[in-house]
Amino acid sequence: MCGIVGYIGSKQAYPIIINGLKRLEYRGYDSAGICVVSETPFTAKCKGKVSDLENFIGDHSVAGTIGIGHTRWATHGEPNDTNAHPHESMNGTFILIHNGIIENYGILKSKLEKRGYIFKSETDTEVLVNLIEYIYLKGNVTPEIAVRLALTKVVGAYGIAVICRDEVDTLIAARKGSPLVVGVGDGEYYVASDATPIVEFTNSVIFLNDNDVAILKRNEMVLKTIYNEALEPNIQTLDLDIEAIEKGGFDHFMLKEIFEQPRSIHDTFRGRVSTNPFDIHLGGLYKVIPNLVDAKRIILIGCGTSWHAALVGEYLLEDLARIPVEVEYASEFRYRHPIIYKDDVVIAISQSGETADTLAAIRMAKQAGAMVLGICNVVGSSIPRETHAGVYTHAGPEIGVASTKAFTAQVTVLIMMAILLGRKKGEINDDRYNELINELANVPDKIEKILQADPLILEISKRFKDATNFLYLGRGYYFPVALEGALKLKEISYIHAEGYPAAEMKHGPIALIDDTMPVVVIATKDNSYEKIVSNIQEVKARKGVIIAIVTEGDTVIKQMADYVIEIPEAGEVVGALLSVVPLQMLSYHIALLRGCNVDQPRNLAKSVTVE
Ligand code: F6R
Repeated sequence: MCGIVGYIGSKQAYPIIINGLKRLEYRGYDSAGICVVSETPFTAKCKGKVSDLENFIGDHSVAGTIGIGHTRWATHGEPNDTNAHPHESMNGTFILIHNGIIENYGILKSKLEKRGYIFKSETDTEVLVNLIEYIYLKGNVTPEIAVRLALTKVVGAYGIAVICRDEVDTLIAARKGSPLVVGVGDGEYYVASDATPIVEFTNSVIFLNDNDVAILKRNEMVLKTIYNEALEPNIQTLDLDIEAIEKGGFDHFMLKEIFEQPRSIHDTFRGRVSTNPFDIHLGGLYKVIPNLVDAKRIILIGCGTSWHAALVGEYLLEDLARIPVEVEYASEFRYRHPIIYKDDVVIAISQSGETADTLAAIRMAKQAGAMVLGICNVVGSSIPRETHAGVYTHAGPEIGVASTKAFTAQVTVLIMMAILLGRKKGEINDDRYNELINELANVPDKIEKILQADPLILEISKRFKDATNFLYLGRGYYFPVALEGALKLKEISYIHAEGYPAAEMKHGPIALIDDTMPVVVIATKDNSYEKIVSNIQEVKARKGVIIAIVTEGDTVIKQMADYVIEIPEAGEVVGALLSVVPLQMLSYHIALLRGCNVDQPRNLAKSVTVE
């Protein structure tokens, strides 16, 4: 949450920072600000998006070759001009941007107040910048030392970039808990919350670790810890394509990412799945396969959509590999004193690889002695770096705040894992193995076909755009899909929606059904087809309006449902991958018809780096 960008070099900093902030806006978009220094710092900040900041700055010429910028997702203090970053210290010596939460800001603030500090904003960030200044002025130390000493006093999470008015040829960046990447150019350095603002300039990057501080001058970088221990920079080469982070002709990132799924799913299994000969190879898990095969239990953890993928994973791993699985919300798991055995394998699922609760949960599982694996999308993010092993989803950057292609990529990895482990454990014979691999290999073409239903889904969306409630029903593998469909609708269209296992409907939610209630049912021809047909009849008997996702050629449900969306026939194991796509499209169209900002829904941010 919150995006930060910094630059020091010979180019004009302003356009680099503004464009970088636009790329990071998925991380937060309730206020924005910049500080650019030529001889003296120029600071501008305001409530709203980066485009509002640009309008606010207007024709004012912003010159300078060092600068910092911030796009905010509010934690402490409402989104307004004063709480927007950058924050300046009381005497104007330091200017700072921050992503994270200073948990002990209350104590630090009252200590500073006792020493005469006056605060303008309600933010924890202003406390940090004043603490740095206090140490600097009182201790008569260098800006770098003041920053490092202040950070040793801080409890919480931070990714920061700081400029000192007395040393305007230096940019200081530091991280703990919140991600920070340094881009290494020729006589220039970039700093950003992730690599997307950097890749158009350089693909040489350093992912800062917790407690790292980078002291950046135009031709020099010093890397050390906040405790003044020297570090050797580990410069990595990024393989990230600039086109992958543009909209590519689509109106919204979300739409682009929905339509990208045939390719992104293919990218997830490319080089890992072969149909000639039939085989699955997951290099990232090579060394830990024995742990997985012998695991008494797998615990899948995640948040939001990634938690839904974990639920699909439970069905897959129990069904195909016969390994007991538990699925946990990371935020609950980390606080409820769970029982973790040394022969448990804990798998964290996360698009960003930075979700604070998921990170904390894996640290706890590691401490308890479990093997901890990751299924993540963002290469080099914190979770892959802190887990024993794992599998990247390789879905490419996901910019739309509502997760779409990341979900299908996560499920694709879980399908590969379940088939592979089922095979290793002797639960799957040759024929079934080959059949399952074929099913997976055919998914991209089948999704291509589903995407052609876009005009139909748009028409259905027009009918339901003013609904106030939705119910989503599914059974087995499709129950998590129902949850995911409901989440997509509520997060981008602000319509209340609930996902339910279809059979549970009779135990309460059926009371909600009347002739105004749209009920989306995933009713494909699978093991529980007959049962879901009965559930549809129960809804119809109460005059509910049915939108059914059915298998191509189904005639039975067509007669009962008000609207049907057909998807190609496929085995249950890949069913979640196919059936979720029309639900993503339905949410997208409904949200758009309601005039909502689909890529940046209110109150949300893509990467939840605070707990
Ligand atoms: C919903 C959505 C969120 C994320 C959740 C976890 O569309 O995007 O629910 O799935 O915040 O994020 P990651 O996967 O980055 O850990």
